[in-house]
Amino acid sequence: MPKAVVVLASSNRDKLLELKTLLAPLGLDLVPGETFGSIDVEENAESYVGNALLKASAWSDFTGLPALADDSGLEVEALDGAPGVRSARIAADDDGRIAWLLGAMKGHKNRRARFVAALALVAGERSWTATGCCRGSLVEAPRGDGGFGYDPLFVPDGVTKTFAEMDGEEKGSYSHRGIAALLLARRLDDPFVLQYLLDCNRTSLGGSDHEGFP
Ligand code: IMP
Repeated sequence: MPKAVVVLASSNRDKLLELKTLLAPLGLDLVPGETFGSIDVEENAESYVGNALLKASAWSDFTGLPALADDSGLEVEALDGAPGVRSARIAADDDGRIAWLLGAMKGHKNRRARFVAALALVAGERSWTATGCCRGSLVEAPRGDGGFGYDPLFVPDGVTKTFAEMDGEEKGSYSHRGIAALLLARRLDDPFVLQYLLDCNRTSLGGSDHEGFP
């Protein structure tokens, strides 16, 4: 059975690595978007699902292939849900994001927070989405070297390690992105969906089944 090619619409290398591992059971041929070039997508939707659909649609239009995108963020109770969908834009890099969060949390006793991730797959006229959420607490000082973003400050419920102190597999077993990937995998686990993705590949890859891309 040939594998359907799906473009992974993200320029964030850490996210790409996580998604490749998490989505491996889908049996798709996941190709990083940068293989095809780069596009700028304005993430101006009000929701994670909306932004994930914007990114996946733009990459699918750009490449002519099915595309999968993720949009995610951290929501902090004491900050009324901030930084939320603005989690990436709050500062220029991860050090800046962590410094912003530590500053914003000064004096707050309530350290509860949650990560949310939405995944969207767009192919031809169809789309599938899934959202995952991971609740936990923020520590007072960064711990660990792994992961990315706010990982050194976040401890999921039920454990004592921050996400940055876990390897990718352990993080994926708790994480918002891991849960979203599981849900999406269930939605795509249907021979008709695979056939539809292969048909989309055929339309865009010049009429023959895909045999290794590019
Ligand atoms: P976007 O989904 O590319 O808009 O970026 C979401 C931002 O939320 C990232 O840049 C990170 O700062 C943060 N974020 C999302 N998921 C995670 C995660 O798993 N760990 C740490 N930070 C995350």
